[in-house]
Amino acid sequence: MAVESAVEFAAGNGERFVEELTALLRIPSVSTDPERVGDVRKAAQFVADELARIGMENVHLIETTTPTHNGHPLVYADWLHVPGKPTVLCYGHYDVQPAEPLELWKSPAFEPEIRDGNIYARGAVDDKGQMWMHVKALESLMTAHGGKLPVNVRVIVEGEEEVGGEGIAAFVREHGDQLKADVALVSDTEMFAPELPTLCVGLRGMIYTEIEVNSARGDLHSGIFGGAAPNSFIGLAQIIAKLKDENGRILLPHVYDKVQQPTEAELEAWKKLPFDEEEYREKEVGTSALTGEPGYGVLHRLWARPTLEVHGMPGGFIGAGAKTVIPAKAVAKVSMRLVPDMTPAETFALLRDYVATIVPKGCTVEVRMIHSGDPIVISTDNHFVTAATEAMKTVFGKDTVFVRGGGSIPIVGDFVRELGIPTVLMGFGLPDDNLHAPNEKFNLSNFHRGIESIVRWLELVGA
Ligand code: BES
Ligand code: MN
Ligand code: MN
Repeated sequence: MAVESAVEFAAGNGERFVEELTALLRIPSVSTDPERVGDVRKAAQFVADELARIGMENVHLIETTTPTHNGHPLVYADWLHVPGKPTVLCYGHYDVQPAEPLELWKSPAFEPEIRDGNIYARGAVDDKGQMWMHVKALESLMTAHGGKLPVNVRVIVEGEEEVGGEGIAAFVREHGDQLKADVALVSDTEMFAPELPTLCVGLRGMIYTEIEVNSARGDLHSGIFGGAAPNSFIGLAQIIAKLKDENGRILLPHVYDKVQQPTEAELEAWKKLPFDEEEYREKEVGTSALTGEPGYGVLHRLWARPTLEVHGMPGGFIGAGAKTVIPAKAVAKVSMRLVPDMTPAETFALLRDYVATIVPKGCTVEVRMIHSGDPIVISTDNHFVTAATEAMKTVFGKDTVFVRGGGSIPIVGDFVRELGIPTVLMGFGLPDDNLHAPNEKFNLSNFHRGIESIVRWLELVGA
């Protein structure tokens, strides 16, 4: 019998790949939840075991806990036996966002279900399903090439991406030499539209903060004190109302000073993308009106302008029924997305200093940084990018579009800056995959085509 190619092997084993992914998706590796530390580690071990089984070497967990950081382990593996060929660093994350609100899931978040060619589960596309494409592409190549790979490969999979990625950032800073590579491959982004192969060439950075307002020595009876005592929630609301104007322009002085305008060529390319603003408003966002800075198109606002969002305001009375209280303490979780050349430190200082100027009477305010990451734009004039477009042309039959992503993957900036290597952001999610929301899914055809694209890319890079 003729030796099977890696693409043939992947095609013949696709069903098993999905079964394995299902098992991984059953592990609720929610990195932000202290009660899930055991499950997070279980997911790390699951990935490590499979990397070892397929023939990767030096497979081990790297602990990230330090005196100041309660970390989840990294998974490392390598296979470095083709001197003279490039080394590829495959990155992914095995941690997931919380699944709440649970009642909005059609099938339970950690009991994967396949419906209409999609697999539904928390982490299906972000990022367990996409990270698994890397593992399965490596398995297919190993098997087809008699236990060898066409390139040198290092794998690093983290368990803290959804909470800022502090552990991997420290590892890259301190042990960058152990991740030495020529290019990083990241599959944690989306295609611009179904059937449209996409490379992401920019990500926004972020600062995630908490704004805490205190207004009295303790909670107060709102009848006895209301009218004389300040209210922390009203104080907080007044602060929040001054962070953005009604159009969505951020009101922090100087916040736009460092924003770099995309090149004319990039703006022209965005105009050619199949994008219908009305359809986006109605179907993807589901709102009566879009907001954002006047004078900028939607894609420009999403990809190349900063934003500021409020995520929640814990505190006060949120139980059933009614309680008449003036809460003494109110907190808002507020993040900002950054674009080149903004920096997290400068932006945090702008926020903190501005908030200090708008503190309501009787209130004290503290702004705390929870985590941050740098924005990044990646150059496309290298043969790794060309190989990616070639690989995806074979699989999808179409030319690749180049987009930026509005989201953040903090470590990508460090790959570029600390390791000095280009990154290929080849993702196969879809705009309606419900990342971070109920009913997250991954299109199974994209899962399989993603594996084939990665197989072909690695073969081209090693050719
Ligand atoms: N995979 C996403 C980021 C993403 C999604 C980028 C789609 C581009 C397109 C990642 O897992 C994510 O959600 N990141 C967080 C980072 C944060 C918690 C530090 C984000 O963007 O909110
Ligand atoms: Mn992700
Ligand atoms: Mn995510």
